[in-house]
Parts: sequence; C-alpha cells; structure tokens
Amino acid sequence: MSFPDQRPRRLRRSAALRRLVAQTRVGVEDLVAPLFVKEGLAEPEPVASMPGVVQHTLESVRKEGRALADLGVPGVVLFGVPTHKDARGTGADAAAGIVQRALGALRDEVGDQVVLIADTCLDEYTDHGHCGVLRPDGSVDNDATLERYGSVAVSQAQAGADVVAPSGMMDGQVGAIRAALDSAGYADTPILAYAAKYASALYGPFRDAAECAPDFGDRRSYQMDPPNRREALSEVALDLAEGADLVMVKPALAYLDVVAAVRDATDAPLGAYHVSGEYAMVEAAAANGWLDGDAVLDEHLTAIKRAGADFILTYAARRVAERLQ
Ligand code: PBG
Repeated sequence: MSFPDQRPRRLRRSAALRRLVAQTRVGVEDLVAPLFVKEGLAEPEPVASMPGVVQHTLESVRKEGRALADLGVPGVVLFGVPTHKDARGTGADAAAGIVQRALGALRDEVGDQVVLIADTCLDEYTDHGHCGVLRPDGSVDNDATLERYGSVAVSQAQAGADVVAPSGMMDGQVGAIRAALDSAGYADTPILAYAAKYASALYGPFRDAAECAPDFGDRRSYQMDPPNRREALSEVALDLAEGADLVMVKPALAYLDVVAAVRDATDAPLGAYHVSGEYAMVEAAAANGWLDGDAVLDEHLTAIKRAGADFILTYAARRVAERLQ
C-alpha cells in the first residue's frame, strides 16, 4: 500500500504544532471595545439584550478604560446616550456633552495607552432617532447633516478623541469631516470611516443600549442594501478619496465576503464591526447551554481576521482579552 508524501495531518498532531503553524491569530491587540456612556446615570445599567454589556456612568467608564488598558486592549469606541434629545441632535456637539465628558475622563485615566475613538453620528442625540437632520417630509437631508457631522467631529477632537468614526452613511461625510477638522486645527486627527455599513437587522440590541431606534421608518435610505458587494468597494474607494485613514465593514460575520473583497482592494487599515446582534445570538445560545459561547466567539473572531480584518470592534473585547492574558 502506498501513501502520499503530503500528509497535512502531520502538522495537526499537537496543540503546540497547531499553534506554531496557525495562519491567523487573534490577539488582545486586535480588539476594540465599544462603550456606552449615559448621561445622568447613578449606577451602571445592564443592557438586557447584551449580557455583560452595560450603559456606563462617567465613573464606571473611567474604570472600564483602566481595566481595558491594563489588559492591553488598544482601542475603545464611545457612544453617548444624552438625557436631552432634539431634532438636530444638539447634544452631539455640546462642549459638556456626555461623550465629550467621557472622552475627558478616559484621557485623564488612560493617557495615550488606549486609542479613544468617538462614533460620529446623530442618532443617539436626535428625538426622531435618525442619523441625520430631517426635511419637513421626514427624509434625511444629506448636506445639512454634513454640516452637523463636521461640528460633532471637531467637538469630539477638542474633547480628546484620538480618532473620529463617522457611522451615518451620508454621502460626502468623510470629506466634510476632514475639511472641518483641518480648518479647526485638527489635521492630525485620523478618520475611521464606517465605509461599508449595511442596513442590518443585527443592530437591534445596540439600539436598546444606545436608545436610538428610529421613531418612524428605517435606515435603508442611507445604509447599504445587504445584497450589494461591489457597491461596498465603491463606498470604500470614495471614503479613501475623501481622506479616510482607516475603513470599516459592518456587520462582520454575515459580510465576510465583503471584508475579504475590501481587504483585496485596499492596503488601508481595515476594521470589522462584530455587531450587537452577532454578540447577542452567541450569548443567548450559550445561556441556554446550546453551544460553548467562548469557543464560538473565538471561532467567529478568528473568521473575521481570516477574512482580512486588521482589527475587530466587539462587545466581547474585555472577556476575550481576559482569557488571552
Ligand atoms: C449609528 C451606529 C449604529 C451602530 C453603530 N453606530 C446603529 C445603527 O446604525 O442603527 C450599531 C452597532 C451594533 O449593532 O453593535 N450611530
């Protein structure tokens, strides 16, 4: 009986061998932790649809920043939940707004140890819950929204954001924010563009955490349509042409083909957002004893990196980082 010379199983014989030849690795340095901070909160408030995730107070967000820094997590992305919401989302660029204060507290706590990324959008701040300002007929006014985004980004940079991350999917948002930052003296503040962000049902739990479900309608007129892959490449190309420094695909798992296509198309740093629904599904199944949550999370994060992401925004960041110590 003859045997083939090639025997791939030779390299799978022990955990150490498998580790040695692993072609994809997930490390603490790949993780970015999304954090919610809510104005006027006395105690951290658990988010029911996202076990392990809370709405933070200013004090608890500072502690969380310290813990993440000590674990070696290199980045956080901040979302604010204001007490007051209005049509123009004025809380988003208020000098003493909730995100601005959280940025100050975190900067004070962690210095340059952790990259502070501010999500630049209006949906958490508008009373109607849309990502932009509205025309009288209820449709989103793209260009009026760009002006707001510019002002929000400048106020976040002023408050200490290292990176601003526009997530509203308005046309021209990266260019408008770049111009606003440059003219306000923040030419060195990078932009992480949510370049290919799809209109996904997987954002459900996030809207509980950020209290930003739209009052009426949906986000399909500005976020991307799930069937479209080539369009993601043009969105990425546009954002890079407008001055994006880093780009992102969101959600991650249901869009791994998009992550891979964007990876092939650009050398820019590429992030993928393992979103609230992706996290919640694993947590729910694990809580029922239907699968091993930690193992599935590791497999999912590995898949996202294997598809080509350089870094992953995930609600599991702290837990995974703790396990990786
Ligand atoms: C918009 C924003 C959303 C998420 C991140 N930024 C919500 C939306 O577009 O509806 C969703 C993230 C998640 O589901 O984890 N500011």
